[in-house]
Amino acid sequence: MTHTVHFRVWRGDAEGGGLADFDVEVNEGEVVLDAIHRLQATQAPDLAVRWNCKAGKCGSCSAEINGRPRLLCMTRMSVLDLTAPVTITPLRAFPVLRDLVTDVSFNYAKAREVPAFVPPPGVAPGEYRMRQEDVNRSQEFRKCIECFLCQDVCHVVRDHEENKTAFSGPRFLMRVAELDMHPLDAAAETGLDRKSTAQEEHGLGYCNITKCCTEVCPENIKITDNALIPMKERVADRKYDPLVWLGSKIRRR
Ligand code: SF4
Ligand code: F3S
Ligand code: FES
Repeated sequence: MTHTVHFRVWRGDAEGGGLADFDVEVNEGEVVLDAIHRLQATQAPDLAVRWNCKAGKCGSCSAEINGRPRLLCMTRMSVLDLTAPVTITPLRAFPVLRDLVTDVSFNYAKAREVPAFVPPPGVAPGEYRMRQEDVNRSQEFRKCIECFLCQDVCHVVRDHEENKTAFSGPRFLMRVAELDMHPLDAAAETGLDRKSTAQEEHGLGYCNITKCCTEVCPENIKITDNALIPMKERVADRKYDPLVWLGSKIRRR
């Protein structure tokens, strides 16, 4: 069945812009990206939209549908209220390049600030041994497709550009947590303290567990419960455990 849907699509660039109105034919079973492609093909050939896989795996087609961060290719038209206009806007937390395309380089800069896994000394690849539950934890975090929807929705940066220097966002705090909980990571032996970097360099303390990041994650990663809260607990244990506190004082002498 085909019907006509009224869309309001943000058009503009870094200088400014606004919502433009379009009526687009939509067929049963289609996703929002199908409608955007039809809009490009029939009425707005210069509309800028980033996409690649159309299968929810490349993380390119992130935008906001009726104000909620979503993947355009994984949002079925049928889940939207089609009696009202469907509003499509670019990710709000990042600077607009053109139309629905934003500059997400903030995320790449934050990614570079997380030092990589440090292999354990004296153990060759292939000889690593881990418990299955440790493998499962890493595997959940590794499902991330870097769509940055969680980065976009988090209130710490969404309307607070000034926090971006001090806060890396849920995706990269999750990466730090993954490495800190990794039983084979030998960063500490090189003098790298992932707990203190989580707090002091990546702004873990800014997160007040609103869980909006978890709600928008298309991979259903439990970012808050499985990464951010455990990381907060690890940092707090360190701070308030009297033995750990005493040890750190002695080591500093
Ligand atoms: Fe996207 Fe989820 Fe990865 Fe965040 S954690 S970037 S929402 S896949
Ligand atoms: Fe932001 Fe997620 Fe924490 S939305 S406040 S990082 S729980
Ligand atoms: Fe790849 Fe949507 S086009 S995730």
